[in-house]
Amino acid sequence: MLTGIPMTAESDSEDYSSLRPRSVMITGASSGIGRACALWLDRAGWQVFATVRKEDDGLRLTKAASPRLRTILLDVTDPDQIAAAARTVREHLGGDGLHALVNNAGIAAGGLVEYLDPEELRRVFETNTIAPLSVSRHLIPLLRRARGRIVMISSIAGFSSTPLLSPYCASKFALEALTDGMRLELKPWGIEVVSVQPGAIKTEIWNKARAYVDGELRKYPPKAFEKYGPLLDRMAESLEKPKGVGADEVARTVETALTVAKPKARYLVGRDALIRSWIESLPTSLRDRLILSRMPKYGTEITDPADELQEAGQEDVNQ
Ligand SMILES: NC(=O)c1ccc[n+]([C@@H]2O[C@H](COP(=O)([O-])OP(=O)(O)OC[C@H]3O[C@@H](n4cnc5c(N)ncnc54)[C@H](OP(=O)(O)O)[C@@H]3O)[C@@H](O)[C@H]2O)c1
Repeated sequence: MLTGIPMTAESDSEDYSSLRPRSVMITGASSGIGRACALWLDRAGWQVFATVRKEDDGLRLTKAASPRLRTILLDVTDPDQIAAAARTVREHLGGDGLHALVNNAGIAAGGLVEYLDPEELRRVFETNTIAPLSVSRHLIPLLRRARGRIVMISSIAGFSSTPLLSPYCASKFALEALTDGMRLELKPWGIEVVSVQPGAIKTEIWNKARAYVDGELRKYPPKAFEKYGPLLDRMAESLEKPKGVGADEVARTVETALTVAKPKARYLVGRDALIRSWIESLPTSLRDRLILSRMPKYGTEITDPADELQEAGQEDVNQ
């Protein structure tokens, strides 16, 4: 009995005995939002191709899912692995198209712009921005065949940049720009491209962020703590425990984006996302005041500018 299982027929004249479940590839399905989406869509009857980086994570996922779900090993920053994953999906689908791609894999990043290592920014962009583009490029031919959809798991950080989070926000702002471009460019083939913008979601990313921040803070010179101390303390405090709504809230939204006749360009998830969206609609000076009012006071006066220049690796030309 297949009632309730989303099915597809390429045309009215198609032989209904050849109907297959709709298919979706989801990146970063080892935990959090990706895992929740994989299990949610699997339960809804989709043929899910869930990508993970470690075999153990794949095994854990298959144990929790129906026998339909397939796992694929994929590090989204590795071009050869992306090509191989796309080949696996294509072979599995026979001549059929792919109905959906959910670009979910992502990493947390943060820190002060003054101390941000450009290499670190590149690393974040590799996973959060360039990888979704690379994965999409490999799958567009298959998506075109099925007039499929692409969902980008972006973030409220994709439209709102705040102190200490700018590397992460920059990667998601750039993802939004690519998403906007793709949405318009792929319209003629009926491929819909949707951005899902969650607020805080209770996942492993918070624990990972805490470990990441600890590592970053260890690299900062003592001057950084003199200048930004209270702000850095706030960053550490804010990561003490995972927060937000459950990852199923995002999975539910992804299903909506993949199944409604006309998906919206963007879906916010969570009350905090709605509030942030409202804050960003305010005039910038008011928006800035509001955001800074929630930060502790920081910014001690610089008593020795020469000392500061030396820390930044520059000479004092006035001496
Ligand atoms: N949680 C939130 O509050 C929140 C809010 C807004 C947006 N988001 C976005 O939601 C997405 C999922 O995050 P999450 O909260 O579910 O965090 P998570 O539990 O840490 O999951 C992140 C997933 O991405 C995978 N991943 C990271 N780097 C990868 C790489 N190079 N190749 C392949 N997979 C990689 C991880 O795999 P491993 O297990 O192998 O590391 C994991 O499966 C991210 O794009 C994140 O930016 C999260």
